[in-house]
Amino acid sequence: MRLPLLEDLPPLDGRRVLVRADFNVPLEQAPDGTRRITDDLRIRAAVPTLRWLQEQGAHVTACTHLGRPKGKPDVRFSLDPVRARLAEVAPGVELLENLRFDPGEEADDPAFVSRLVDGFDAYVDDAFGACHRAHASIVGPPRTLPSAAGRLLAEEVEVLAGLRDDPRRPFVAILGGAKVSDKLGVIQALLQVADRIIVGGGMCFTFLAAQGHRTGASLLEADQVDTCRALLEEHGERIVLPHDLTALGPGGKIGDPAAGGEVRQLHADVPDGWMGLDIGPGTAGAFIDVIEEARTILWNGPMGVFEDPRFAAGTRAVAEAVAGSRAFTVVGGGDSAAAVAQLGLAADIDHVSTGGGASLELLEQGDLPGLEALRSAPNAHDLV
Ligand code: 3PG
Ligand code: MG
Repeated sequence: MRLPLLEDLPPLDGRRVLVRADFNVPLEQAPDGTRRITDDLRIRAAVPTLRWLQEQGAHVTACTHLGRPKGKPDVRFSLDPVRARLAEVAPGVELLENLRFDPGEEADDPAFVSRLVDGFDAYVDDAFGACHRAHASIVGPPRTLPSAAGRLLAEEVEVLAGLRDDPRRPFVAILGGAKVSDKLGVIQALLQVADRIIVGGGMCFTFLAAQGHRTGASLLEADQVDTCRALLEEHGERIVLPHDLTALGPGGKIGDPAAGGEVRQLHADVPDGWMGLDIGPGTAGAFIDVIEEARTILWNGPMGVFEDPRFAAGTRAVAEAVAGSRAFTVVGGGDSAAAVAQLGLAADIDHVSTGGGASLELLEQGDLPGLEALRSAPNAHDLV
C-alpha cells in the first residue's frame, strides 16, 4: 500500500508539525493516587518519527487520546504521566491535552478539526493503534494539511498488510482472547491466507461446543455456535483446537488462588460448574508442533487467563515457542504483546504491533480509515 511518507512532506525547516500519536498506554494507580505507566512501548515506538522531524528543523507538537473520558476533561485521564515520559525520550516535543476531553474528537467535528490544525504546516500520523477510528485527529488534518505516515505507522502497515500479501509458508495464525464474536471477521480473512489457524483462549469454547463438547461454566457465546460449526465444516482440517484444558472447579475464583477451588486437567469436555481457563499441557504440546513447522506466525490473544498464575502455562508455552521459532513472527494485540513483554521475550519477536483492534481490522479489511485519509491528503495525489 503506497502511503505518503515523511520524505513526501514539503521542507520542514522552521515549520510547525502536528503528530498524531497513540500514547494510550496502560496505567496503574498507586494508593496515593499517582498514576504509573506499566508499558511505555507506544511512547518509545514514536521516537524515530519525532526525532526525524526535529532533525529537519521542525517544531513538533504531538497529540493523543488516553482512555475513554467521554468528551469532557477528567483528571483520571490527564496526560501528565505520558508528558513526563515523553519529555525523557523525546525532549523538546510539545504535547496537547487528551484529545478525547473534547466531544469533537470522536465525532470528527469539522470545527474541532479546524482548531486542531490551526497554525500547523504539516501533519504526521504515527498513531497506528488508533487508525481504525475515524476520529477528528486521525481523518481530519489530511483534508487540508500536507500529510504523511510516520515511521511506526509505515512499518506496521508494511508488516501486517504484508501478511495478507505473500507470507512465507506455512503461515500459522494463533488466535486467543475472550470473545469469538470479536474475532470472526479476522478468522474469515485469515482463512483466505493462513495454512493453519490455532484457536485457544476463551473463544475456543464456542468452537468446542460446535464440535459437540460440553463447556460447563466456561465462556461460551451460544449465538455463535452455528457460525463456528459452519467454519469447522468448511475448513475444519486447518483449524486447530484444544483437546485438553486446565479448569477451575466450583467455588474457585479467577485471579484469587486463596479462594480455593480445585484446579484440574480435563479432556475437551468440561463438567457443570467447572470453568476451562487455559489450554492443557497436551494441547500446548500439539500447538508447539504446529508452531515449529511455521515460517510465518501471527499471534493475537492469550491462550488462557494468564494474569492468574494457575492458568498462565498455556500462554507461556505458546509465547516461548513463538519466540524460539525461526519463522517471521508478528505479535499483535494488547494482551499478547503484554504477555510477551512480561515474559521478557519481546526482543525475540520480529514485530510486536502497537495496535490491538487496529491490527485485527487491518488484517480483516486490508485498509483503515486513517490510511485512507493519508492517501487522499493534498500532497498524496501524485503518488502512485
Ligand atoms: C487502543 O488502545 O485500542 C487504541 O489506542 C484505541 O483506543 P480505543 O479502543 O479506546 O479507541
Ligand atoms: Mg481498543
